[in-house]
Amino acid sequence: MILQEEMTILSNVKIAPRVFRMVLQGEMVLDMNVPDQFLHIRVPSPDKVLRRPISISEYDRKTKTCVIIYRVEGPGLADVSQMIPGQKLDVMGPLGNGFNLNMPFPKQKALIIGGGIGTPPLVQLARDLVAMGIAVTVLLGFAQKPAVILESEFSAVASELKIVTDDGSYGRDGNVGVLMDEIDVLDFDAVYACGATGMLRAVASRTENHPNAFISMEARMACGMGACYACVVHVAGDETGQQALKVCDQGPIFRTSEVVI
Ligand SMILES: Cc1cc2nc3c(=O)[nH]c(=O)nc-3n(C[C@H](O)[C@H](O)[C@H](O)COP(=O)(O)OP(=O)(O)OC[C@H]3O[C@@H](n4cnc5c(N)ncnc54)[C@H](O)[C@@H]3O)c2cc1C
Ligand code: FES
Repeated sequence: MILQEEMTILSNVKIAPRVFRMVLQGEMVLDMNVPDQFLHIRVPSPDKVLRRPISISEYDRKTKTCVIIYRVEGPGLADVSQMIPGQKLDVMGPLGNGFNLNMPFPKQKALIIGGGIGTPPLVQLARDLVAMGIAVTVLLGFAQKPAVILESEFSAVASELKIVTDDGSYGRDGNVGVLMDEIDVLDFDAVYACGATGMLRAVASRTENHPNAFISMEARMACGMGACYACVVHVAGDETGQQALKVCDQGPIFRTSEVVI
């Protein structure tokens, strides 16, 4: 069910350059039950009418709280970053399909690959998989040391966690492609990735024939609910170029082989 709610901001803290962690509380959390659905957030400025889609990083139904982690790219999220505890944030959600947790089974292995600001929704995913008895290997890539986020959250649950930075200022030098080349990606029972387009392509090229490889896609959004077709991506293998899928309600999670990245 899609809800709209004035959620209460419990905290809104800068955790890296331009990156903020916001804790929200509200009834909507009771509807959150799969990782990487997203919230469509109204910016608290009347001149900015389009909502901003932001992934749910963690949720806890007991305390009715959820966490979003966002990077300020333009004036909209800059306004959100100024909001303080006690203020209300107008939110629609939870939206989107979320990561499919039915694919790996207890005692199987899952690979999680995250890049930059694509890592937040993978926190809940990693926790949920581990709670199901699945061993989780996590590969994360960031631009540089100050941009590294969520290391302690992932290391708390992952069987193995490897971090790379583009400039080598933290962890290994390079991108997650380097780390993927060191393991047998096809040996994992499920693969999940969220990050920049180039990273998703690198994951897709290594998982073409994998039955359970999933990516989280981004697209410019307007309605966020499947009505306006602003957010379409093309279907892989469609020679007519006419078939499209909507990221907001048919995604944001797709099989790597399903869409043109
Ligand atoms: C499903 C989904 C989940 C996302 N999750 C996160 C997240 O967890 N953390 C995070 O930092 N960012 C996330 N993004 C990207 C985020 O929505 C944009 O960076 C943000 O909307 C930019 O807003 P702004 O006000 O900072 O920039 P502005 O430049 O002021 O935004 C202008 C307009 O462009 C849209 N826009 C700009 N960039 C994007 C983009 N990459 N994707 C979609 N719309 C965009 C905005 O919604 C807005 O309508 C997600 C995007 C999608 C589609
Ligand atoms: S944003 Fe309107 S259909 Fe997806």
